[in-house]
Amino acid sequence: MPSPEEAKDQIKALRCEIDRHNYLYYVKDSPVITDAEYDILMRRLTKLETEFPQFLTPESPTQRVGAAPIAAFGAVRHPRPLLSLGNVFDNEELEAWYARVSRIIGDREHDFGCEPKMDGLAVAITYIDGKLAVGATRGDGTTGEDVTQNLRTIRSLPLSVSGGIPERFEVRGEVFLPKSGFQKLNRDRAERGLPLFANPRNAAAGSVRQLDPRITAARPLDLYIYSLGWSEGRVMPETHWETLEYLSGLGFKINPANRMAADIGEAEKYYADLTRMRHDLPYEADGVVIKINQLALQKVLGDVGREPRWAAAYKFPAIQGRTLLKEICISIGRTGTMNPFAALEPISIGGVTISRAALHNEEDIRRKDIREGDTVFIQRAGDVIPEIIGPTPESTSRTDRKPPFNILLKLMDSEKGCPVCPACGAEVEKPEAEVMYYCPNAACPVQRLERLIHFASRSGMDIQGLGEKVSAMLLDKGLIGDIADIYTLKERKERLLAIERMGEKTVDNLLEAIEKSKSQPLPRLLNALGIRHVGEETALLLAQSFGSLDRLMSASRDELSAVPSIGPRIAESIFNFFRNSTNVGIVGKLKSAGLDITETKKPGEAGEMPLYGKEFVITGKLETMSREQAEQRIKALGGTAKGDITKKTAFLVVGSEPGSKLGKAEKLGIPRITENELLKMLGS
Ligand code: IVH
Repeated sequence: MPSPEEAKDQIKALRCEIDRHNYLYYVKDSPVITDAEYDILMRRLTKLETEFPQFLTPESPTQRVGAAPIAAFGAVRHPRPLLSLGNVFDNEELEAWYARVSRIIGDREHDFGCEPKMDGLAVAITYIDGKLAVGATRGDGTTGEDVTQNLRTIRSLPLSVSGGIPERFEVRGEVFLPKSGFQKLNRDRAERGLPLFANPRNAAAGSVRQLDPRITAARPLDLYIYSLGWSEGRVMPETHWETLEYLSGLGFKINPANRMAADIGEAEKYYADLTRMRHDLPYEADGVVIKINQLALQKVLGDVGREPRWAAAYKFPAIQGRTLLKEICISIGRTGTMNPFAALEPISIGGVTISRAALHNEEDIRRKDIREGDTVFIQRAGDVIPEIIGPTPESTSRTDRKPPFNILLKLMDSEKGCPVCPACGAEVEKPEAEVMYYCPNAACPVQRLERLIHFASRSGMDIQGLGEKVSAMLLDKGLIGDIADIYTLKERKERLLAIERMGEKTVDNLLEAIEKSKSQPLPRLLNALGIRHVGEETALLLAQSFGSLDRLMSASRDELSAVPSIGPRIAESIFNFFRNSTNVGIVGKLKSAGLDITETKKPGEAGEMPLYGKEFVITGKLETMSREQAEQRIKALGGTAKGDITKKTAFLVVGSEPGSKLGKAEKLGIPRITENELLKMLGS
């Protein structure tokens, strides 16, 4: 046994070490030791603290396991009230909020903090002399419940902080259960026959307001700090953003999805981005919070009632519903992809009846843990295809639940003993580095139909009258075998007329539309061909880079990858497409039909596209426009805007306070230009 002196030193060193690993694991999400190694450290510390109880303190990491249960929570009066937030639901309402703000602060310089609005439980935690002293719930905003012992169990919350800190200060944040933790918790509860939590917020609130802290300790709670409530004894930063950075430096966990916005437009973009990403966040968020960044201006703005005037909660649209997922089916794409989709019990969401939803790929289905027979949450955002968010808690806890979806089992042909295309029976393939399975058979009837529909579609050759039904009939009746055959239909007008509901007028119109499509420009033709990974944008780049179909067909992999925005995967796909004899045959037929296979605008001399083929990267802040505006203007002139420097970058536009991209550009010898030079290129 060590002497008390030695024990004291060892305890101190161990705590320091364990705190560091806690921080790396729970705050930074990047542990450097294994769980087993961590356990050894903890056991050593526990042993020393048992042998030398005089050195045990509440700040010890061993004290996170949960103290003894209590009879009731004490009350905590908040020195400064915890406010709530005013809601806005669209850009117009946000701009109205900002107009009210502007009327008060005038033209005083400011920017915005933008953050996910966490759907959890608000807490305020007070530190005295660097030690966690009191943790309280929001309560009614003025008085909350003392949940100190419970908050102590949250591993990402430091029990002590040090280094240039105020004597007393209070941090505020949101306790939440990550989606994964919530699912696990409910599964456990179902197994034990306990009632399920309806959502992660209720689960988090229920866990924090537990009279037995040991129960709280067993729940995978987490906590993001979003403000400094108050502080005494030290000058603090002048902006909200710097405050969060300061707190992060002390070891508090700050949401990595927080961003600054230079103007209200950028804040709106943040909202739009997060709205799209919300289901991929590992926690529930019900909107974003937009805050005036300058604390002095926050003070000027003050509160209206219980809501600060300097912040607004911009809520996500709620167009969700729940329904039964009857079956996970497979549809076949025009490039042969096996696309899983959900056949749903029809449900009306926002006035639209939904009976199908896209499921992307097997990985995605497994990640979301969606299974046949589950009741699932459905979401529809604007015009996009409805999406399945995930199973309901009741579904995931069912004991008779179906096994996870397995696409190969779904496609398995018992006679052949291998997974096959449900349309043509060809054995499916999965190219390396891809997540999708493909039907390799170019003659597969479903692929043929999908290819024809795509060929004639609006973004393709735009042939009116050649939609899904007519396409299917033409193929069914054997009038055509592939897309190129449509140009020979005029020689078989009688057979067309013989088809049900194809009158003289309809047939004439169709033939005329087909004839007209021959002069569609090369980019459209390239998109219409249906080359895997080649969409409208890539088709345009290819047409402009190679100038003709012949040049493109003979391009090497290297020549293809040299085109801006075309990586090896797309290059490979294009290269292979033109090495396939069926495809070469089709192109031959298209050429003899007299299609326009040369690009009239040659690369470089593309009149209204002076920035064509040039990749721009912007670093730092621009004076005369936002980054988005600059990117839009670059794209309007044929250029591309990228987030990262690569060998293909043509110019790095350097604004004020540039970031690390500057160094990277230097290393790669990428030319740098100023905002003024960019403006000149943009023609202003
Ligand atoms: S700022 C006075 N930031 O939203 C300003 N609140 O409706 C309010 N919330 O009870 C605090 N995420 O718990 C702020 N990033 C965030 C937030 C956030 C969630 C909660 C907060 C509060 C409620 C207000």
